[in-house]
Amino acid sequence: MPRAIISPSVLASDFGNLNAECTRMMKGGAEWLHMDVMDGHFVPNITMGAPVLKCVGKGVPGIFMDCHMMVAHPEQWIDDIADIEAAGKQYCFHIEATSDPISVIHKIKERGMRAAVAISPDTPSSAITDEVANLADMLLVMTVYPGKGGQKFIEWCVPKVAELRARFPEKDIEVDGGLNKKTIHECAAAGSNVIVAGTAIFGDPQPEQVITYMKSVVDE
Ligand code: DX5
Ligand code: ZN
Repeated sequence: MPRAIISPSVLASDFGNLNAECTRMMKGGAEWLHMDVMDGHFVPNITMGAPVLKCVGKGVPGIFMDCHMMVAHPEQWIDDIADIEAAGKQYCFHIEATSDPISVIHKIKERGMRAAVAISPDTPSSAITDEVANLADMLLVMTVYPGKGGQKFIEWCVPKVAELRARFPEKDIEVDGGLNKKTIHECAAAGSNVIVAGTAIFGDPQPEQVITYMKSVVDE
């Protein structure tokens, strides 16, 4: 299994101090920062878009932005995100939002970003074809319905992680939604190596300890 990467979700951070919040997490051992972009269409909420991410890229040297694009037209935002200056970027779109995931992946990679594909709880792992998975750098299995932070972990999504890990032993597989020091165990056992956590990390007085713990659970 690939190595552990912990990606704190800034959705649970103080948006008024976003750059400082990202810097704090990186100092605490986070390699990626999970940026939840919501457009009010694919999901009801609106969070932030490229103009905000641009400020983060500028203000947080060394940041790797794990952009989770909960948007209805994933192809529409590729250029805007690609134009942002940051140390590293991944563009993760939902397979439910497009009829042509292959061309979306190609566009993302042409613009120099890592490409990733997400599935919502009601989408089976078989929606990710071998062709899509082989082109993608990462697969994301949502463990809550996308749209807001702080929701309860959905256990019945975990078998999809195991199914994808069996098909793709070397691929980065991320889980997102309701992850904490308890729920991480079944996800890591099923084969996920990239862990998103918002509430569990930002809500803890010692986030660096949560990050260290989560890494150890995946890598053990
Ligand atoms: C949900 C988002 C998640 C969310 C995770 O739509 O994609 O990234 O912020 O937050 P927690 O860890 O609080 O469930
Ligand atoms: Zn997310």
